Amino acid sequence: EKLGLVCLNPMIIGHRGASAYAPENTFSAFKLAQKLGCHGLEFDVQLTRDGVPIVIHDETLDRTTNHVGQVSNFLWKEIQLIDAGLWKGEQWRGERIPALEDVLTECKGMYLNIELKNSKIAYPGLEETIVRLIERYCDIGNVIVSSFNHSSLQQIKKLAPHIQTGVLYERQPKDAVSYIKNLGGTAAHPNFRFVKKEQVDAFHQEGISVSTWTVNSLRDLKAAIRSGVDRIITNYPDRLRDLLQLTEA
Ligand code: G3P
Ligand code: MG
Repeated sequence: EKLGLVCLNPMIIGHRGASAYAPENTFSAFKLAQKLGCHGLEFDVQLTRDGVPIVIHDETLDRTTNHVGQVSNFLWKEIQLIDAGLWKGEQWRGERIPALEDVLTECKGMYLNIELKNSKIAYPGLEETIVRLIERYCDIGNVIVSSFNHSSLQQIKKLAPHIQTGVLYERQPKDAVSYIKNLGGTAAHPNFRFVKKEQVDAFHQEGISVSTWTVNSLRDLKAAIRSGVDRIITNYPDRLRDLLQLTEA
């Protein structure tokens, strides 16, 4: 099978890790992502009641842990006791909600897409905390902060202009290139459903890179490759790896 490509090699980014196969946003999912060929990881960050940044997607514990309640009501010492694997299957029992700090240190070497989950809940001090951790632990060229909360991204840029920011959006802004430039964004992070090659080219012309999410089916992965995006965020990194190997051959 041929994709008809010339020299396109998007990075493979594991969405919440290799979340199709292992419990999302856990070290098992991150390690498996690396094993399946990921160059990078995407994961979601919120704050505990005592201000510790932790890696979890939903604003509540209900779906992905053996507890219920709002993440922001729990202390870090309480979060550490919660099981974040069992919901996915008995073999994942004992999996924990990671502290961001531990992910930054243990997954060093991979491209890290830190998504701030602060659209529904405001986390005062989140931006300062993230900037501090990135400056302490990260290779600045290999980390990006993304969010649907665009004023939060502006705040990150204000605090640390050298930190890359990714502008997440569900619907395409009217003039997407100017919109992202005005925010000082490094990258566009559009939903894959409306990623077109012309738009990607327009971003590239202005020095804006593109990460698209969450691309899972073979058909959608092929379309994303063809569009020329820089990074593809997927729950199935193995599928993307196999497709890319096919195109290299
Ligand atoms: O960062 C890309 C993607 O993860 C955004 O949506 O809901 O999966 O965090 P969500
Ligand atoms: Mg996310």
